Amino acid sequence: MEAIVHLDTAYNAGPIDPRIFSGFLEHLGRSIYGGVYDPGNALSDEAGLRQDVVQAMSGLGMPYVRYPGGNFVSNYDWRDGVGPDRKPFPDFAWRATEPNTFGTDEFMKWCNAVGTEPMLAVNLGTLGPSEAAALVEYCNLNTETQWAQARRANGADSPYGVKMWCLGNEMDGPWQAGHVPADQYALKARNAARLMRGIDPTIELVAAGSSGRQVATYLEWDRTVLEVCWDDIEFISAHRYSSNIENNTPAFLAEGVIIDSILDDYAGLIAYVKGVKQSSHDVYLSFDEWNVWYRERGGKNRDGQWKVGPEQLDEVYNLEDALVCAQYLSAFIRRADLVKVACLAQIVNVIAAVMTSPTGTLKQSIYYPLAMYSATAKGVSLTPVVTAPRYDAGDHNDVPYVDASASFDQETGEAAAFLVNRSLDESVSVRIEFSDRDVIDPGTVQIISGDDPMAANTWEAPETVSPRAGHAQVDGRVLTVDVPRLGMAVVSGIGTQPR
Ligand code: AHR
Repeated sequence: MEAIVHLDTAYNAGPIDPRIFSGFLEHLGRSIYGGVYDPGNALSDEAGLRQDVVQAMSGLGMPYVRYPGGNFVSNYDWRDGVGPDRKPFPDFAWRATEPNTFGTDEFMKWCNAVGTEPMLAVNLGTLGPSEAAALVEYCNLNTETQWAQARRANGADSPYGVKMWCLGNEMDGPWQAGHVPADQYALKARNAARLMRGIDPTIELVAAGSSGRQVATYLEWDRTVLEVCWDDIEFISAHRYSSNIENNTPAFLAEGVIIDSILDDYAGLIAYVKGVKQSSHDVYLSFDEWNVWYRERGGKNRDGQWKVGPEQLDEVYNLEDALVCAQYLSAFIRRADLVKVACLAQIVNVIAAVMTSPTGTLKQSIYYPLAMYSATAKGVSLTPVVTAPRYDAGDHNDVPYVDASASFDQETGEAAAFLVNRSLDESVSVRIEFSDRDVIDPGTVQIISGDDPMAANTWEAPETVSPRAGHAQVDGRVLTVDVPRLGMAVVSGIGTQPR
């Protein structure tokens, strides 16, 4: 099969914000306890941080990690998780015991070790604006006031300077502690935003948007929140978890089409509210939970039976999941004008890129798309026009076999391409043609592919789904890359010069 990706460097969606390669870590299952934090384990340092996990996380190249939830945050009191007196509590969201031995200060140490920045969510479920503002004080002020003093007494002399803050989590969901109708949440979020920014005017704020298209109030919730909070926020959040519950791989691999249409929904809504308000302020999208998740739901996954660090949401990921994750990232790149933050949900043990045992870590298939894209996508997002054969599957018609995004570094003249071949049967030879530049160097190709969409990494065979070298060539002034069936390719360092 043959396809063409047409590019022109003048036709771009603006700079790619590196924050779209962020992650999400929640107090849930074995994510914290037995995951990132395991005091006494030979692999942990004196602070209890698992060093093999730190190393694996560093390889993802995440600029930010969202924390501590998720549903968890909506009944979490951050004050129980700092200082010498840690109080365990029953976590309403996942029915587990939260020992509170890992809290804000431990997370800051972990971020430092990984080389990432914290993105903190505040509890707007059972707590409110004043507790949220107190957390901003704890993290960001150096005053002679209660919570800044407490941070210093707890060993952190300098403020943490936390830049990104989420105003609650999925407050549209009836499952969320403190769920209220949109107008009530919007007022609470606006009050919290004003108080928090009053404490630190430099912070950036994300209002909680819809938890997904499946929710009856999808977009209506977001419209209300945007209308009330517009001047007080920089972002509204979106979440999505993809599913192949019907075991239809061709339909599942069309997921990128749905993600594009969700981004269209938000682009239209944000433009609408901006227009109604005749505002010069901009609000962007923070897609701060995205992944595949459908196997480990219900049962033990919702009920941790009040254990500390129970096994929950320990989803095993396969090749087709990695190809869907690649499509999420390409969709975010294509809409660089809209999506400024995105977080893979999640990163350790719980619907995660990395699993732990007491003696080591396993990189799941979905680890690699994020690691490869974050290391490669630099500069502006080129808007690709794809000419490729198309197919129908499930509810989807006319799906191109090739999903593509591309970046261009205006300083070096180097481009990169991100390609997925949705075909189960045929490889595709993709011609990458610039209308305004000649390709002079094919760069380096990394491929992930396989014969079995359900193939997964295991402790016995940990590299079943992992990158290997691929091949690209310059034919005349055009780059040609072969992408195997059920495959993805990341082509980095494509040398170009003006035509
Ligand atoms: O990531 C798992 C859960 O999914 C989060 O806690 C919640 O925000 C979402 O529904």
